[in-house]
Amino acid sequence: MMNSKDESIKYVQSEKIEDFGKAILVAAGMTQGDASITARHLKMATLRGVESHGFGRFLMYSKRVADGGMISPTSVTVVHDGGSVLSLDGHNGVGQVVAENSMKIAIERAKETGICFTTVKNSNHMGALSPYVLLAADSDCIGIAFTNASPRIAPVGGAQAMLGNNPWSIAVPTSTNPVVMDMANSVAALGKVRILQARGELLPEGWARDSEGMPTRDPLAAITGLLEPIAGYKGYVIALMLELLTGAASGGGGSYTVSAVTKSEIPGNVSHSFIAISLDKLGSKKDFLQNVDKLTSDVRNSKLARDSKEILMPGDIEFRNQETRLKEGVPLKPELVKNLVEAAELFSVPIPQWLR
Ligand SMILES: NC(=O)c1ccc[n+]([C@@H]2O[C@H](COP(=O)([O-])OP(=O)(O)OC[C@H]3O[C@@H](n4cnc5c(N)ncnc54)[C@H](O)[C@@H]3O)[C@@H](O)[C@H]2O)c1
Repeated sequence: MMNSKDESIKYVQSEKIEDFGKAILVAAGMTQGDASITARHLKMATLRGVESHGFGRFLMYSKRVADGGMISPTSVTVVHDGGSVLSLDGHNGVGQVVAENSMKIAIERAKETGICFTTVKNSNHMGALSPYVLLAADSDCIGIAFTNASPRIAPVGGAQAMLGNNPWSIAVPTSTNPVVMDMANSVAALGKVRILQARGELLPEGWARDSEGMPTRDPLAAITGLLEPIAGYKGYVIALMLELLTGAASGGGGSYTVSAVTKSEIPGNVSHSFIAISLDKLGSKKDFLQNVDKLTSDVRNSKLARDSKEILMPGDIEFRNQETRLKEGVPLKPELVKNLVEAAELFSVPIPQWLR
């Protein structure tokens, strides 16, 4: 959950950082089109409070495009068209652009056939997943997105990182904001570990293991070691099934063949998959929304725990963050300033007044 406004920090309208970051990406070698899509995704993540996948990623992505790990202009081609199932190739393009195009193909096809599954290989890190499923929800579809990721989780009984923390996201439209699940299958995403490392803080217990498979609170040991899966063996099981639905389905390979996003000269070899389900083809959109509204309001209004004030739907926190940050601006926290300045200096982009 996001903290309330911190008076010691400057707040800036998200569009300013979006435009500045876009200029850095272009200076690093991305096309205007690819940079616009990438910057919009990072803005959405930041507005939604997903800072681990927000504006702080401009540095990493600009290095990747400059060093050859990501190729721009991005092209997505069809490897096999099975009607409501398509296999695609992202040719090592920009992850956000590959992913957005793959979801758009799924949505367009679902409007004709009712449902479509697209799977894409040879992509790169796609950032936070919720923006893709929200595209589907905005088009009156249920949206589902999965990705594999660089290896971070050992299978139960193993000590080698073979699986990514493989985030997945589902958006179900309601008559107001969609219900949006967006989560990785590790107790904490690596981006959150990196944020605590940058702040010089210890990790909470139960987030990570070191390379010997022993519990650790040291962020660096976690980065070189293992992330703990959610819910014990169940998290391992979910992560493995998502490997099969992404790396195996697309032909791109398992997470153990995905390279770390920080290795900027090496293509990510990431695979993603998307599902869109058209509400109109499911029956009556009006009935569907009524059913979802009733179910979610019944759950929201059920008996509260003695120490609780409210029951939330998945996605509520992020929509609230977005509303607040659109009004107040985005906090320029010291680690974000450091990151943006480093990226701008690396690619000779003038540092604007608001960042000084
Ligand atoms: N591209 C990649 O390789 C990659 C890898 C890992 C994570 N990520 C991204 O990192 C982000 C953060 O992931 P995370 O696992 O830390 O997510 P998280 O733990 O912050 O949130 C998980 C989900 O729980 C919901 N939630 C939280 N509190 C709730 C409550 N009290 N009641 C109801 N719902 C609640 C949230 O709305 C969200 O849908 C995601 O956007 C994910 O896509 C991306």
